[in-house]
Amino acid sequence: MQVLAVLGGQWGDEGKGKVVDLLAERFDIVARYHGGHNAGHTVKFGSRHFALHLLPAGIVRGRPSVIGPGVVVDLDALEAEIEQVAAAGVPVGDQLLLSDRAVVILPYHRLVDAARERAAGAAKIGTTLRGIGPAYESLAARTAIRVADLFRAETLAARVAAVHAETGALLRALGEPGVPEPETVTASLRAAAARLERHVVDTGRFLRDRLRAGATLLAEGAHGAMLDLSAGTYPFVTSSHCTSGAVACGLSIAPRALDASLLVLKAYSTRVGSGPFPTELLDATGEFLRKRGNEYGTSTGRPRRTGWFDAVVARTAVELSGAEAVAITKLDCLDELDEIPISVAYRLDGRTVTDIPPLAEDVARLEPVLETLPGWKTTTTGVTRYEDLPSAARRYVARLEDVVGAPAVLVSTGPRREETVWRGDLPFLQGLPSPR
Ligand code: GDP
Ligand code: IMO
Ligand code: MG
Repeated sequence: MQVLAVLGGQWGDEGKGKVVDLLAERFDIVARYHGGHNAGHTVKFGSRHFALHLLPAGIVRGRPSVIGPGVVVDLDALEAEIEQVAAAGVPVGDQLLLSDRAVVILPYHRLVDAARERAAGAAKIGTTLRGIGPAYESLAARTAIRVADLFRAETLAARVAAVHAETGALLRALGEPGVPEPETVTASLRAAAARLERHVVDTGRFLRDRLRAGATLLAEGAHGAMLDLSAGTYPFVTSSHCTSGAVACGLSIAPRALDASLLVLKAYSTRVGSGPFPTELLDATGEFLRKRGNEYGTSTGRPRRTGWFDAVVARTAVELSGAEAVAITKLDCLDELDEIPISVAYRLDGRTVTDIPPLAEDVARLEPVLETLPGWKTTTTGVTRYEDLPSAARRYVARLEDVVGAPAVLVSTGPRREETVWRGDLPFLQGLPSPR
């Protein structure tokens, strides 16, 4: 296996950061291919703790870490994150490679994001307010400023002025009075670009050359399949594609370069922001899961909504990315429960439904068909061998494998690197490059 994608199979925050960190020691290069600093990926080992937003998790392992052309980049956020991980003992040097084609998030994008959410009132999406959606809109409209543009003073000023004129009109219509002057924005972009210049390369050329020479690559997904722009619970989604289909375009490599996908699934469900969530628990059990799982956003600190594992969501995500295997995380968070329901299908208007309907208002009306599994009522925190899991926990994992249609090659029993069960006997793991 030369190129592997790790992706989220629910609504984000499945534990991708932990899984990417675990696998990064086996791969030569780690790359982010979509999204921006709306992502929040946690890496923990020993007493160390990193909350990464734009930097690929490979940075912690000192691997060449690529921010690909499919990513939208807030230069200030990137600089702040570089400083933050340096302060935590990981100096970011030449191993960070920023695509010359990545899209730059401008202050105007952030303002549009916030003004739209304000104007939407109760119908808001609950975005991270980072300007992600409006930046991707600029890309599609062909008015975006990309990293390479930052180094052409004469064209940059004109392009910022054009975005200012367009978004300024939109912002005024949305009731936002203060719009930063294009000259101020241009000057700040040029200053940040000068500081980041050493990282800027044609990352597509770099990756294609390295792959031809036999290097291995780990593609780090952000968000989750149900937040995918096309396949997710539209319009309550993010503005990038979150399935393995996005890897090639987001890194400027060929689709056939991708050898396998590993889907990360939380042992229950969470969602941040608005939008339908069929297995949501609005009761004390939901609050218990939030506390037990420390379900507060890595990026925004917002409490995450919680619910039971949803097999239709997870199986759809496996299918969408063609995932050969899954990683089940946060099993330990279910330790105290007497019994654990999972949703295996839905009911809607008297019918059984086994696919996610296209309309969010119909998704909101789905009633989960629950199947109840026995709990194990004993701690699994830190367990590292499959045979050491209580038999009811193994039965739970086996049932998830059944309903999603893929083997669980990794079971996570705590936030730290060390707290992991590897199913080394399964063919998928044997196909991975060796750790070095
Ligand atoms: P990501 O966005 O998919 O990378 O996930 P986040 O990092 O946003 O959220 C996952 C949270 O769960 C983080 O706080 C992790 O430290 C934590 N976590 C990951 N795996 C486990 C696990 O197996 N058990 C527990 N208790 N926490 C976990
Ligand atoms: P990671 O990579 C959880 C959600 C937001 C909102 C919707 C749109 O950490 O799993 P956006 O700012 O992207 O336009 O917001 O998408 N969202 C996430 N939720 N984890 C994430 O990333 C998310 N990225 C976006 O909460 O509902
Ligand atoms: Mg997260």
